[in-house]
Amino acid sequence: MNPDTKTTAAEPSPLADLPEWAAFERAARSATLDPSRLAVINAAGIDLDTSGQHASPELHEAAAALLSARGFDDMRRRLLDGDIVNPTEERAAWHTALRAPAAIPEVAAERQRLIEFVHTADSERRWRNIVHIGIGGSDWGVRLAVAAFGYAGTWRQVHFVANIDGHAIQGGLSGFDPRDTLIIMASKSFTTAETLENGQRALEWLRAAGVADPCKQMVAITARPEAAAAWGIPDAHIFKLWDWVGGRFSLWSAVSLSTALAVSADVIAGMQAGAAAMDKHFAEAPIAENAAVQMAMSGIVNRSILGYGSLNIAPYDFRLANLVPYVQQLEMESLGKSVDLAGRAVGVPTGPAVWGMPGTDAQHTFFQWLHQGSDGAPVDFIICAHADHGWPRHHRILLANCLAQRQALLQGKSYDEALKECLAAGMPRARAEWLARHRAYGGGRPSNLIVLPRLSPYTLGALLALYEHKVFVQGVVWGINPFDQWGVEYGKVLAKGLTAQLNGTAPVETAHNASTAHWVERLKGPCTGT
Ligand code: F6P
Repeated sequence: MNPDTKTTAAEPSPLADLPEWAAFERAARSATLDPSRLAVINAAGIDLDTSGQHASPELHEAAAALLSARGFDDMRRRLLDGDIVNPTEERAAWHTALRAPAAIPEVAAERQRLIEFVHTADSERRWRNIVHIGIGGSDWGVRLAVAAFGYAGTWRQVHFVANIDGHAIQGGLSGFDPRDTLIIMASKSFTTAETLENGQRALEWLRAAGVADPCKQMVAITARPEAAAAWGIPDAHIFKLWDWVGGRFSLWSAVSLSTALAVSADVIAGMQAGAAAMDKHFAEAPIAENAAVQMAMSGIVNRSILGYGSLNIAPYDFRLANLVPYVQQLEMESLGKSVDLAGRAVGVPTGPAVWGMPGTDAQHTFFQWLHQGSDGAPVDFIICAHADHGWPRHHRILLANCLAQRQALLQGKSYDEALKECLAAGMPRARAEWLARHRAYGGGRPSNLIVLPRLSPYTLGALLALYEHKVFVQGVVWGINPFDQWGVEYGKVLAKGLTAQLNGTAPVETAHNASTAHWVERLKGPCTGT
């Protein structure tokens, strides 16, 4: 481990100035989406099928040359060694250390504390209800794992409260018996307004119910244990996070305590093992067989060269609904930046908007746009080869739908095929020719297919690490820092000032734009129904 190392990598040259970028762009523009190509990489037990991406031997070569020009090997080593890779915050981004099989002592100690906490709670049959309070990275990973492995119900009920909207905490506390409810506050910084306010409401709720020592029913997971202790949370209930764990990677830490209480500590161990296997693959596999690298490079082709502004995530597994916001935060908070490490404009479009919904719901919601809309978007299809229910018929239909959508996006349907169909259905020629123009579509829309043998903690862990490393590689190529989030920070500062103005404890700022000033005047003062 080396988080204290104050060295930073040399600043890369502007991407667009590199001859390797020009060669990559040229090769990408002449690469084809060839329906006869089959390209599958196995990584940590999951298959990544990139057959639906633009490819050519020249593009593969140009990608390798570009990665080398961007110092990829060195950057990857720095990431995995825990060196500083987040220079704007002078931090490492060493989430891989949290899942390393041979953990460093302080990580191993926290893991052990978590296991013991869960073991005690289970053996005492305590905490029938959990309220998990946290937002962003302190929320999505836990929600994802609890839904993925607790979709059929859990002994403990977990309510998630993230939003500052008071209805969220109202709903989160309702229906729970305060005497058997554990409030878990997850916040790396322990300064996040949403989490602190919601935590206060939960504390008041315990107090109002006559709980003698409410802080004993609270747990905090944070990189600022002193701030949690100042709240009155006992030391035995404070779990440590480290400065070198980015907020959006914190599900690998004790932030997943709620997961362990809801669906067992084995789930966390399994996810860590799968992620560690993907880390090993990422560290060792050659470029051409490296799943994260291949995914990253085709993503760059799609975004920066072919001009696709978004990436659709389509998990054909109902249990993975929360994968969409999870990947959304991971990708958009990491890559939603336009300047490089030297502070210059990157010069090419960077991180796409990420959106999606599980199939087959997605098909009945927005797939029309993916197939025939004027923009379209690359799609990551995700399936499990085997289901965990007893209805093979459902699973076959689900898989068939996924493969069908993917094929249609890739191959489309020609006007002649559409015309033939219309004529075969007995339409008069004039109507058939008119209708065929509506029914035909171009295809040629890129996609990945990711196949998990089945949804297990191991495969989910591997999948999440695959996306993490993909994002890292894209950051290296674009030359941006994927580990900070200054845009979000500025909004937080503005919101603080506006809160005081709405409360009437600070004057309305003259620097506001006309509309903000108007609405602050209109909305300030009492504003709730109770
Ligand atoms: O949205 C900004 C952010 O800092 C995320 O990166 C983070 O996951 C979230 O807020 C919550 O932060 P914290 O864990 O410090 O409460």
